Amino acid sequence: MNVAIMGYGVVGSGVAEVLKKNHDSILKKSMQSSLELKYILDIRDFPGDENEALIIRDFNKILEDDSVRIVVETMGGLHPAFEFVSACLSAGKSVVSSNKELVAAKGDVLLQIAEEKNVNFLFEASVGGGIPILRPLSQCLAANEIYALYGILNGTTNFILTKMINDGLDFDTVLRMAQENGYAEKDPTADIEGHDACRKICILSSLIYGKHVYPDWVHTEGISHIDLADVDYAKCWGGVIKLIAKAKELDNGMISALVSPAFVPADSQLANVNDVFNAILVRGDATGDVVFYGRGAGKLPTASAIVADIIDCCQHTRQKKLFGWKPSTENIVVDYLDQPTSLYIRAEAAQPDEAIAAARATFGSITVLTRKDQPTNEIAFVTPEDTERALRTKLETLHSVKPLSVLRIADC
Ligand code: HSE
Repeated sequence: MNVAIMGYGVVGSGVAEVLKKNHDSILKKSMQSSLELKYILDIRDFPGDENEALIIRDFNKILEDDSVRIVVETMGGLHPAFEFVSACLSAGKSVVSSNKELVAAKGDVLLQIAEEKNVNFLFEASVGGGIPILRPLSQCLAANEIYALYGILNGTTNFILTKMINDGLDFDTVLRMAQENGYAEKDPTADIEGHDACRKICILSSLIYGKHVYPDWVHTEGISHIDLADVDYAKCWGGVIKLIAKAKELDNGMISALVSPAFVPADSQLANVNDVFNAILVRGDATGDVVFYGRGAGKLPTASAIVADIIDCCQHTRQKKLFGWKPSTENIVVDYLDQPTSLYIRAEAAQPDEAIAAARATFGSITVLTRKDQPTNEIAFVTPEDTERALRTKLETLHSVKPLSVLRIADC
């Protein structure tokens, strides 16, 4: 059985390294007589690299070589990854991908081609890096109705928030640190504006609920507007701010899905997930809460998930593994504004005492928050639960305050 890798970046080179380092045990588990890396597709040169002889530039070499039965896609981005992966699947090759952008946007189409061709399209590494999550969700937890899933799915933003919380550093300073350490994506917008976490919650929701959930259906907010003042008020409230990706099945079969920074209570299992670590809390009807924790990115953790998928492909050469979801014909995600939540509100108020009284009269039983060195014209409070639309409409009627920050309270 021959394997090809498309994209020899950090993750692709990690796959080559793990395949070589653990060759004998991987071969044994694969139940094949041989398992060799035959090609590495990349447009760059790698002079002196131990796999230099395997580097090719022409994708057709992989496509036309019948001895290549498994293709690893670690190129990232939508194009030409989509065209290459579709062509490989159509040619009867199994594909393993770590590309969350590709799976979130085109997973349904690619799964359908895989189905028609009786080959595998597996992507454990696309969510949570080295954390086993897709396989446990589709196999080990298969008996459960999954009520809800909450994830810290982006290492870069978790690193930034952790430094803001623990070291009191501001957002821009820590973003620079994350870029220097190589955590942030090339364009950090996808991380800090929540798009990366959105793609991952779409993959998780599609798998749990069996129908494709597209990223543009999921309301997504990032962390670039989070201020150290909000961090302090979260502490006063009894928690921390985390970028939470959430998916929940509603009684009518629709899905509530959202990515946004939120106050997480200190006793939540997600509150102490720090630095670049990721965690996923799955709330099943039979299991209760199950938490998966580990390194959500990085060369070898991600390669570990990819190689496990390669082994799975080797074990399912005749009968395709049952895995995936169906296309969605209509939007199955409800409007987040119609969902219940409590809101944290920080605002400027010339007359703070009167503003708090007005907020109490408007929202009912609010929790007033304070912080060290609080400006005399600043107030902060947490509202009781209502639909987000009702809470925001009420906030608009509070003419004596100018909102500076509004965040949700997480129920994880
Ligand atoms: N940029 C991503 C993160 C990499 O920070 O989590 C892993 O998907």
